[in-house]
Amino acid sequence: MTRHLLSAGDLSRDDALLILNTATELARLADRPIKKLPTLRGRTVVNLFFEDSTRTRTSFEAAAKRLSADVINFSAKGSSVSKGESLKDTALTLEAMGADGVVIRHEASGAPHRLAGWIKGSVVNAGDGTHEHPTQALLDAFTMRRHLGNLDGRRVAIVGDVLHSRVARSNVLLLRTLGADVTVVAPPTLLPVGVDGWPCAYSYDLDAVLPKSDVVMMLRVQRERMNASYFPNAREYSRRYGLDAARMAMLPEHAIVMHPGPMNRGMEIAAEVADSVRSVIVEQVTNGVSVRMAVLYLLLGGNDSAIGPPLGEPAIDTETQA
Ligand code: NCD
Repeated sequence: MTRHLLSAGDLSRDDALLILNTATELARLADRPIKKLPTLRGRTVVNLFFEDSTRTRTSFEAAAKRLSADVINFSAKGSSVSKGESLKDTALTLEAMGADGVVIRHEASGAPHRLAGWIKGSVVNAGDGTHEHPTQALLDAFTMRRHLGNLDGRRVAIVGDVLHSRVARSNVLLLRTLGADVTVVAPPTLLPVGVDGWPCAYSYDLDAVLPKSDVVMMLRVQRERMNASYFPNAREYSRRYGLDAARMAMLPEHAIVMHPGPMNRGMEIAAEVADSVRSVIVEQVTNGVSVRMAVLYLLLGGNDSAIGPPLGEPAIDTETQA
């Protein structure tokens, strides 16, 4: 049966813990002089990126290579996609080349779900529009567990442009599965319609939420997805919702600061906060490789306890979003 990683909501608690524990094992490899395992020798992983990416694409590439898979990097620029070739035709071409796994990033929410219906290989969602980014949520949970241990009852604040954030959606779903209490914090204009149906709390008041948080995850203001004015100006946004040193001081002593990158320094996060000892932002990137290795290993490694149910409905209704 074909198995995919399309939504963080498809993962049971056992699935999620299996991935995180496998990633812990694989992370040990990073300390060895030769960082390579033969596990996926002879398998082909295609990185199909229709949207710009630095961290995610290189992280998946490093992960696949450390497992000895052959990697084909496909970016829409310079391909026949710019001549108008459809996603389906592109997918069938890649399948004809023998792709065992396809890692896809696409500007359309739901594209990975469509792809999963067309090809035989496993599909991994590396970010679809404003919908989901499950491996980001997994690497975030991995990073939180390294610092805080078990996430049951831990309080996580996800702050900023929640409306356009696939990172927020996947994190809310996965953290809920792992037992954490999530609060999304944003101005009313940057919270989606229907947020009260999400499995988390929401607030407009960052200063009230910070003292009670074990983790604060800042989100990038995604101007490229904004077709209207969602706040008066950058200065006003950062005054109310930016994390500066004074605000960081309101956090409990053990709390950590996260950001999926790329950061707008000085907008949602001050440079001194991003570079402070509480920031685990660089570590998130490192952990991303181990977590993506675990996902590829479990999906493509021929392990019967592979993750995720068969193709299902998205867990968050994208139609309620702007
Ligand atoms: C995020 C993304 O692309 O969804 N970045 C990432 O994957 N590291 C978040 C963002 O673009 O702000």
